[in-house]
Amino acid sequence: MGQYIIEGRNRLCGSVKVQGAKNSALPILAATVAVGKPCIIHNCPDLSDINSTVKILKCLGCKVQRSNGMIFVDPGHLVKKRISDVLMREMRSSIIFLGALLSSVGEAVISAPGGCDIGLRPIDIHLASMRKLGVNITESHGEIRCSCKKIKGGKIVLPFPSVGATENIILASVKSNCVTTIINAAREPEIVDLAMFLNSCGARITGAGESTVVIEGVDRLNSSQYAVMPDRIVACTYMAAAAVTGSTLIVDDVIPVHITPVFSCFEQAGCRVETSGTQLRITSPEKLCAFDRIQTMPYPGFPTDCQAIMMAVASVSKGVTIICENIFENRFQHIGELRRMGANIKVQDKIAVVDGVDCLQGAFVHSTDLRAGAALVVAGLCAEGTTTVDRISYIDRGYASFAENLSALGAVIQRKDQL
Ligand code: EPZ
Repeated sequence: MGQYIIEGRNRLCGSVKVQGAKNSALPILAATVAVGKPCIIHNCPDLSDINSTVKILKCLGCKVQRSNGMIFVDPGHLVKKRISDVLMREMRSSIIFLGALLSSVGEAVISAPGGCDIGLRPIDIHLASMRKLGVNITESHGEIRCSCKKIKGGKIVLPFPSVGATENIILASVKSNCVTTIINAAREPEIVDLAMFLNSCGARITGAGESTVVIEGVDRLNSSQYAVMPDRIVACTYMAAAAVTGSTLIVDDVIPVHITPVFSCFEQAGCRVETSGTQLRITSPEKLCAFDRIQTMPYPGFPTDCQAIMMAVASVSKGVTIICENIFENRFQHIGELRRMGANIKVQDKIAVVDGVDCLQGAFVHSTDLRAGAALVVAGLCAEGTTTVDRISYIDRGYASFAENLSALGAVIQRKDQL
């Protein structure tokens, strides 16, 4: 599983370039199956979830070549419509191949996806949406068999602006010969990136990023080259690393509007955040102050993926910060680990009350999920003494060259892989 060993309380300086967005690259790579023609995707981060996606593409019969951040996919040889349970379980994003396969071959045999254990993470909204599109779905013995001769289009009202379900509806209807309208669609930037990629292939998707998205199906899509947008959650993670170590940091390849919901937390904590184009500079005080109540919400609200990371910041911010997790029912597992480091956090249902301490203590802690693991690294950077973050394969799902980048900024962190 691997460990990060961190010696805390080292100031950071310099600049770091943010990787391509995991949650954009994954659906875009799946979307190449719907496109059906060779595509080149640039700025793909080197992550284990990307590796899992490449495995699925290959098992479906696609030709895939990778070179640094570029991934070439030729789905022309697509021969299969089944994804094994083992591959489905490797990550949450495997479910996005459902819509892509329905667009491409009109069939898909899948099972429930994997992903971080931050809640039950059902796929009922995905399946209900597919049925509304005219997809025939049978579920038995853990297998989900989907088939559809012709997507029937129409209006789909989502009960919750699910990111994955929005992506699946777009992918299932992009090559139909009808119009599909999603009401209460997810508005995350990753939806916009997916729509921009598909439109670069000749799709006709309007309204991405808004609550109503209209997909006018087209007969065919064409090859395209596309660069994935920068990862807004990783950008916030490096900002948090600067904040807790009283550092000034330049963060390159940022789209400021994507992280506005988190900016105000850093500014309330006493940091100065300046942006110029796609470059951001954060200047941090010696001592942080507690910030306003955090309520995780669908975009453009505060992102749930930053909740654990900002809780690590709040743990050393003078005063009380209240954090409410509204999206996932089991996304407080990092609290027990932060407490091992001396954090003063009380929990009642979905609300955590964080009373900032002067200094955390280094300890042996477990990553319980991707963002919790990143939060523990942030905490270790400012803790007194040595912090060992165990089970870092969770972190490898979303952070490329994490230890290398932090070391280059002056952190004392090394990776120890268990043989
Ligand atoms: C995406 O997950 C992201 N993952 C998550 O990032 C992110 O936290 C989440 O969106 C919310 O922004 C990827 O894009 C790969 P949802 P997704 O469908 O699509 C419930 C990370 O750390 N729900 O918007 O699974 C669900 O249980 C990961 O990078 C249903 O009930 O999120 C949750 O409570 C973690 N039924 C809420 O909706 C469904 O059919 C939001 O889920 C689907 C979702």
